[in-house]
Amino acid sequence: MGFWIREKYIEGSRILSPMAGVSDSPHRRITRNMGSAFSFTEFVSVEGILMGKVKTLDLFRFHESERPIWFQIFGNNPEKIWTACKLIEELNPDVIDLNMGCSVAKVAHKGSGAGLLKDPLKAGKIIEGMRKSVSLPITAKIRLGWDHSSLNYREVVHILEESGVDAISVHGRTKKMGYSGRADWEKIAEIKSFAKVPILGNGDISSGEEADFRLKESGVDAVLIGRGAIGNPWIFGTKKKSDLSDQERFSVILEHLKLMKEFYGDEYGAILFRKHLNKYLMDREDLNPLREKLIRSSSYTESVNLMSSYLYERTPIVK
Ligand SMILES: Cc1cc2nc3c(=O)[nH]c(=O)nc-3n(C[C@H](O)[C@H](O)[C@H](O)COP(=O)(O)O)c2cc1C
Repeated sequence: MGFWIREKYIEGSRILSPMAGVSDSPHRRITRNMGSAFSFTEFVSVEGILMGKVKTLDLFRFHESERPIWFQIFGNNPEKIWTACKLIEELNPDVIDLNMGCSVAKVAHKGSGAGLLKDPLKAGKIIEGMRKSVSLPITAKIRLGWDHSSLNYREVVHILEESGVDAISVHGRTKKMGYSGRADWEKIAEIKSFAKVPILGNGDISSGEEADFRLKESGVDAVLIGRGAIGNPWIFGTKKKSDLSDQERFSVILEHLKLMKEFYGDEYGAILFRKHLNKYLMDREDLNPLREKLIRSSSYTESVNLMSSYLYERTPIVK
């Protein structure tokens, strides 16, 4: 299964959702390799782009194997957003995505992220200008509305479509919900039923079966998987995490650790990897002692040795 973003064909229907502080280049490489259909960067501040902040621009660093790569930006000033689009086009992304879903107060309450849902006409103007500024496809990621008394997703989707958006991702919650409650897949299905552009549904998918079920039931073109993909890149493939041998699991963990160290440097890479490691092993209480040793491990080689010893101790002796 796949879908078109203008003239670009995206093959596959499960995608790693953007997650600031999580879905960095190493995570995207691992998940893309496992079957995620394309890669979203974490959201990147338009202000930071315009100031040329090294830390901000570093969030756009990607590996060619991640393509198609969608750069996600957030901001609320139309002119600044358009200028930022022109600047980042130079970095050669495949798509630019406007974040209209971030619920964090310091973003949304300043009119960026989900704050744009409060002013759909402005959001439409921004999308129209983004289309004119660059030759790349332009997409947006929204929520259903600010809160339950202002569920304006129909209006928002229509305006974005009129403004030339090429696809819309929908997280089935309101801004006010944050991450509480459940994503409303009925409303996501409703959006799919009237939308003219591809719709990517999102919210609470925690297994491959659930992804298939949501795709079929709602009819969306693809699903985004966020939290369910932390420590579980296998969610994009055919084999379940619970069916993996320890060797298979450890191989992916080591590959991810290696990429983190290459990307961030040895020490910082290992520190940042801890949150992934915890999720990789959290379903296996019996691996707690190993996990604790791995967290304290000072080098890649030591991590390999710890895993090897663990496997060796469990290998039955054949007489
Ligand atoms: C730690 C974290 C960071 C996130 N950062 C972003 C982001 O940068 N851009 C974005 O559009 N959504 C962001 N999200 C929202 C996710 O992309 C997704 O919409 C949300 O988690 C619901 O999907 P899930 O239930 O599969 O996790 C973030 C979510 C989490 C948990």
